[in-house]
Amino acid sequence: MASSLMSVYKSLPISFSHGKGAWLHDNAGDSYLDALTGIAVCGLGHAHPKVTATITAQAQKLLHTSNSFHIENQLRLADCLTQLSGMDNAFFINSGAEANETALKLCRLWGREKNISLPHVIVTERGFHGRSLATLSASGSREIQAGFEPLVQGFIRVPFNDVAAIQTVLQSRNDVVAIMVEPIQGNGGIRIPAEDYLVQLRKLCDAHDCLLILDEIQTGIGRTGKWFAYQHTPILPDILTSAKALGNGIPIGACLARGRAAELFQPGHHGSTFGGNPFASAVALTVLETIRDENLLPHIAKMGQLLQHRLNETVGKHPKVKAIRGKGLMLGIELSEPCSTLPAIGLKEKLLFNVTAENVIRLLPPYIINADEVEQIVTRLQKVIEEF
Ligand SMILES: Cc1ncc(COP(=O)(O)O)c(C=O)c1O
Repeated sequence: MASSLMSVYKSLPISFSHGKGAWLHDNAGDSYLDALTGIAVCGLGHAHPKVTATITAQAQKLLHTSNSFHIENQLRLADCLTQLSGMDNAFFINSGAEANETALKLCRLWGREKNISLPHVIVTERGFHGRSLATLSASGSREIQAGFEPLVQGFIRVPFNDVAAIQTVLQSRNDVVAIMVEPIQGNGGIRIPAEDYLVQLRKLCDAHDCLLILDEIQTGIGRTGKWFAYQHTPILPDILTSAKALGNGIPIGACLARGRAAELFQPGHHGSTFGGNPFASAVALTVLETIRDENLLPHIAKMGQLLQHRLNETVGKHPKVKAIRGKGLMLGIELSEPCSTLPAIGLKEKLLFNVTAENVIRLLPPYIINADEVEQIVTRLQKVIEEF
């Protein structure tokens, strides 16, 4: 269909009029079980009453003032996020790509401080960090880079989950200032590294005076059953990026830093018109308080285990299913062949999910999902895979 939109997305032919909890509804009166949550955004589900109440109240009070003035909600959000993450300070922007841009700008300053004129950041194959020029250059997929050359310089790519490859790079050059990874690769196909991967990266960063940057845009804010995925390990990163679920649908991102990384920015180094405005900050604060007050982290872990267990018992037996993996409510089902047509079949079964890395079904259901809805994901997905 001709449209006045730039043709960037291959959208499915459906549009939703409203949502409630784990469900989205269309104008035809059909209801769809949302196992995608706008790609890891609506963790609290649709129209969560506490989020709606904050949106309504804050919209009646104040939307925006600019960072030329103190923003109380932003200060409170920064306090809350730093307490939850163990980081020292925060900078707010509006998206994941901007959070990672902020992290990469910190790396450049860190390089200057160390008298490295062309600082390099180690990044991974299949990593995904965003679509801006720097973040697509950091991402490990030629598909998203092709056509946008010249790429931003200063990245060295190694295979994901390969500590030895990083060691080799660090031993052979002295211009590396940071390692940047996702604790679980999301768009790369829900790839979970070895249990000690982050611990090993932390040791290498300490030994070589590098910053450890964790991109938790997709894994953070409860998705894996902890506030942040690195909290399944004993380490802390130097820089942590967050977005997606932080606003439950209101755009907001954060770049958090600790120790020396937290001291790098000085007035004038960075900025954002909208970042951390009174409205977005109020909503994000409510999202965090709701996850905490409703004790959702153990629920996410429990529902994630149940979903993975039931998937293994059912779709796991299908000959085309190669592997099922995940942590908390971030799950991938790898098929033995490309399966980009599956989400359209999902529409027929009234189940929403997507496919990433060509052959991995990605499930990112809301944190508030119940056991009955988990079972419905499983039975609907079984039908989808049988129809494929
Ligand atoms: C790990 C990761 N980093 C960064 C991004 C980019 O976020 P945004 O689309 O908000 O710019 C994404 C988005 O999918 C992501 O999954």
